[in-house]
Amino acid sequence: MKPFLFVTDLDHTLVGDDRAMHVLNQQLEQHRQQYGTKLVYSTGRSLTSYRHLTTEKSLLPPDILICAVGTEIYHQDSEEPDSIWFQKLSIGWQRDVVANSAARFVDLTPQPDSEQRPFKVSYFLSEQAAVEVIPDLEALLEEQGVDAQVIFSGGKDLDILPRQANKGMAMTFVRQFLEFEPARTVACGDSGNDIALFCDRSERGIIVGNARPELLQWHRAHPNPNRYLALAECAGGILEGLQHFGFL
Ligand code: GLC
Ligand code: MG
Repeated sequence: MKPFLFVTDLDHTLVGDDRAMHVLNQQLEQHRQQYGTKLVYSTGRSLTSYRHLTTEKSLLPPDILICAVGTEIYHQDSEEPDSIWFQKLSIGWQRDVVANSAARFVDLTPQPDSEQRPFKVSYFLSEQAAVEVIPDLEALLEEQGVDAQVIFSGGKDLDILPRQANKGMAMTFVRQFLEFEPARTVACGDSGNDIALFCDRSERGIIVGNARPELLQWHRAHPNPNRYLALAECAGGILEGLQHFGFL
């Protein structure tokens, strides 16, 4: 057995089936201690919201925590996000212009303050309204000269991020920092903001069985042998995928 880099989304991916998560956690912790495998969580949540989750669920402490859809990277025991990543995202980012542009859309309801981050502007949006709002918002942002990307997840959350940040780009940064090859790296997810973990990548990907339609549709339209669609849900699907790729 060799070490691997394990990157996972939390809500409805690692977290969702307590019993399966318990089994998976035991195997991951053993692998970490025995072979030096590294655990990375990549969540849409802010650090505050992540901490709240840790009071409700027994999560293993990760080696690195990626918050706010790839825009903040926290090294173990650090309260401050990685400054190199932070600076990289600052280039050309105009948060005010983004927020003012989005304010023109009545269908966009701002998310709570805790989820508004330096490089992430977040709203709630219904699935029906999304079809029209997203292209119009993208066009307006472009017109305003902002290099941003719009990500819709779970049929209700809309995040606007700088072009140079998402879960996929943050994974590459962390993978290079921890010195793992793409073939020894595996990422797991269930919804729209996880597409970047799987898009044009040679890292291995696991989509859990309960994945959202936005991810499944994308998966079917972009087949890739490095990606595995599990039958089981949440942590059970992760275990299935890790065995499929021979990591466990
Ligand atoms: C998490 C975050 C929220 C974000 C969503 C999708 O729920 O708290 O702000 O919009 O993930 O990325
Ligand atoms: Mg999720």
